[in-house]
Amino acid sequence: MTPVITIDGPSGSGKGTIARRVASVFGYHLLDSGALYRLVALAGRRRGLAADDEPGHAEQARTLDAEFGTDVAGEERILLDGVDVSFEIRTEAAGAEASRVAAMAAVRAALLERQRAFARPPGLVADGRDMGTVVFPAAPLKIYLTASPEERARRRHNQLKEKGLTVTIDDLSQEIRERDRRDSSRAVAPLRPAADAILLDSTGLAIEQVVDQVLELARSRLPAMN
Ligand code: C5P
Repeated sequence: MTPVITIDGPSGSGKGTIARRVASVFGYHLLDSGALYRLVALAGRRRGLAADDEPGHAEQARTLDAEFGTDVAGEERILLDGVDVSFEIRTEAAGAEASRVAAMAAVRAALLERQRAFARPPGLVADGRDMGTVVFPAAPLKIYLTASPEERARRRHNQLKEKGLTVTIDDLSQEIRERDRRDSSRAVAPLRPAADAILLDSTGLAIEQVVDQVLELARSRLPAMN
């Protein structure tokens, strides 16, 4: 069985960055499940779907033409219908739209097998909200990453600034709170730690410190890592 490490948590907890680093150290594949929800929302908007059209968005999820890769500079590139949307899907507006389609049971069901197909040898690091609870319930290592709301807003702010997007910390804090509330309170696959997840609070920790903790846990939990 392909080993899977799941990293779940709220927005701005650092899971994307940590997942990428851990995958690169072990030479594992990476599943950025949030990107799939962002792509479904974008595909729906491009096809003129109403925001609450669940069957329409589920159809987008089933037929999603998405490609994940990196360019020559090693920068992540995500294509939708063959067109580079890497920048467009990272805005807070795209995150908010993703969180709305992510509350639709039919969309989640349509993405389930697609996500599981990412688990290929030698292994997978999967980041999201329900990787440990729903998509990979048998994963040998599940991390639930958190950080204080202030720190998460600060991190998202820096990330967006690096991409040339301007938002105020206050607006961002408000948006993050709203998105977390929606993600935690929805009926299907709400954001919560799996019963067997290890909780890591990254407040005040450098990325490398969190990565080291996850690597150490992986080496102790996954025998093949030694
Ligand atoms: O992780 P990211 O911020 O890219 O996720 C965008 C949105 O997609 C989240 O706010 C959440 O609503 C949804 N999502 C989800 N389940 C996942 C990953 C993301 O519901 N596994």
